[in-house]
Amino acid sequence: MLPFLLRTGSGALAVLFQIFLNIHLASAQSCGCSSLIIPVHVDVLIPKDPADSFGGLKSNVSDLRRLNETYDVFGVLCRPNTAPPGNPDAIQLLVHGFTYTNQYWSPPIEEFRNYSYAAFACDRGLSTLAIDLVGVGLSSRPTNASDVQFATNAAVLSQLARHLKTVPILPRIQPFKKVIAIGHSAGSATLTYGAVAEGRQSPFDGLILTGNLNIPPGTLPGLPGVMSARDDTPLCWGGLDPDYITTNNRSLFYPASPTSFSPRMFTFDAFTKDVGPLSSQLQGSVTTVASEYSGPVAKVAGSEDQGFCAAENCVDVAALNARERVFWPEARSFEVFVAQGSGHDLNLDFFAKGPFNTFVRLVEQFAGL
Ligand SMILES: *[C@@H]1O[C@H](CO)[C@@H](O)[C@H](O)[C@H]1NC(C)=O
Ligand SMILES: *[C@@H]1O[C@H](CO)[C@@H](O)[C@H](O)[C@H]1NC(C)=O
Ligand SMILES: *[C@@H]1O[C@H](CO)[C@@H](O)[C@H](O)[C@H]1NC(C)=O
Ligand SMILES: *[C@@H]1O[C@H](CO)[C@@H](O)[C@H](O)[C@H]1NC(C)=O
Ligand SMILES: *[C@@H]1O[C@H](CO)[C@@H](O)[C@H](O)[C@H]1NC(C)=O
Repeated sequence: MLPFLLRTGSGALAVLFQIFLNIHLASAQSCGCSSLIIPVHVDVLIPKDPADSFGGLKSNVSDLRRLNETYDVFGVLCRPNTAPPGNPDAIQLLVHGFTYTNQYWSPPIEEFRNYSYAAFACDRGLSTLAIDLVGVGLSSRPTNASDVQFATNAAVLSQLARHLKTVPILPRIQPFKKVIAIGHSAGSATLTYGAVAEGRQSPFDGLILTGNLNIPPGTLPGLPGVMSARDDTPLCWGGLDPDYITTNNRSLFYPASPTSFSPRMFTFDAFTKDVGPLSSQLQGSVTTVASEYSGPVAKVAGSEDQGFCAAENCVDVAALNARERVFWPEARSFEVFVAQGSGHDLNLDFFAKGPFNTFVRLVEQFAGL
């Protein structure tokens, strides 16, 4: 673990949690987990202006600049011990949302052990790689936050998926035949960006986009307490570019009813909090048609999501499906699921088992298992 400490000055605390995570998942007998650093090279055009609301998708070339970099991407790989080493078939790439890290998919807390989607999936024979996006957690954090935009991380995820399909991620593990991505919130927006930008070239064999719907610009309530991370927690983030931001209040990510989630969840939430680039907020309203992506797509939203399901947006599920479908005209299949009772952070409230079962069913379907 020492290399991680050397690598990321602010990540020491997170490393301790990570060690804990490995112990707790490993104790689930059926499952083995390892922390990894994967170098990922991207060569991509990104907007010169990080406030470009379409993230570069509609820009003239003169408004873009070239980013040619290699980033270290941190991830936690979990595999069923019973999986045949020669033929792992499919892997899920798990992509967190704004101010979260890979730990969203596996809370490193004894009390919240059963909120781990990585453990849930592993128990059902499915492998996962939960990563920290570039700029976040234990992955590379470019000095200049304007290098970290949707275009950057979408390229990182696609390159990572290609890597998973061609190179053994660990000795004795064959490359995976299929990569299904599951995103949460801004992670879903990043995957959507990649599907728009890459179309039929996308390496993903299916997309499961959670906590993210196309709602009219301006109707999403602003996240309270957003500020420069260096002002929020100087001890950890005092040296960062002020355009790395965080929030001191993530209550909107939970159902409005306090009986729907653990009263201790906010404590967990506070000490696993991380940063994101300012561009993720400025470009967050990107709504563009993924006109060429041809794999299967599903969306999963919580009926009690205080942002995306406000104003009765998710009550009429058939109408919601019709509204969302138009953004994915070539998708092999498309469906929106509304998880009853769940909030925006579908993994972290008392209803999480419902969405977990939905994710597993969709992954098996998309991977042809
Ligand atoms: C791209 O360039 C054309 C021609 O100069 C201009 O008309 C158009 O508005 C530009 N588009 C954007 C998004 O800047
Ligand atoms: C892009 O980066 C790669 C790897 O670092 C390097 O070999 C290559 O020369 C770079 N290309 C340009 C045009 O800078
Ligand atoms: C970050 O990079 C952009 C684009 O290269 C540049 O315009 C800006 O001045 C840089 N900011 C800092 C703080 O270096
Ligand atoms: C967090 O924000 C909500 C509104 O989304 C507000 O009702 C609540 O009082 C805030 N909590 C704190 C501790 O500031
Ligand atoms: C975890 O266990 C607690 C206590 O039994 C329960 O309330 C909660 O719904 C469970 N969460 C999940 C995701 O299964």
